Amino acid sequence: MKEVKIESQLIVYNNVDELPDNIASLMEKAKEARLRAYAPYSKFLVGAAILLDNGEVVTGNNQENASYPSGLCAERTAIYYAGSKYPDAKILSMALTAGSQEQSNSTPIPPCGACRQSIAEYEVKQDEPIEIYFMGTTGKVVKSHSLANLLPLGFDRSFL
Ligand code: THU
Repeated sequence: MKEVKIESQLIVYNNVDELPDNIASLMEKAKEARLRAYAPYSKFLVGAAILLDNGEVVTGNNQENASYPSGLCAERTAIYYAGSKYPDAKILSMALTAGSQEQSNSTPIPPCGACRQSIAEYEVKQDEPIEIYFMGTTGKVVKSHSLANLLPLGFDRSFL
């Protein structure tokens, strides 16, 4: 037997001012989307903005439902919209911001497991990495150079 070590590498920015200009503006669009989230049950607002290689930006936010499992996370709302509207475009970057409606939060909040799986599908499809930037509502921003870096041992089409 042998032991296998899997590592993830992340970059931590102290605040949005340290981001490249195009990513700072993408994060701003994610923040605007967060404020439009429909989250009357959790009151936890999440915004996502996706930059495509055709220059378009697609945004999304969480959409909740009285039948709780019928709701959808911001990341999937955004990426499925991008996939449906621009099926041939490649996704370059995704900016995410999340936090309670009631107070600001400086802990970077990564995408949930189901969203990682959904984003991974598009990364495998386009065979080029999708950069992920995530933050709370203020403060530090974490960058992952790819989705695979956030989802070790992922399940994908190669197993089918
Ligand atoms: N949520 C997201 O939009 N993205 C995530 O990655 C985690 C959770 C939403 C789902 C629900 O509307 C609320 O946040 C609380 O879980």
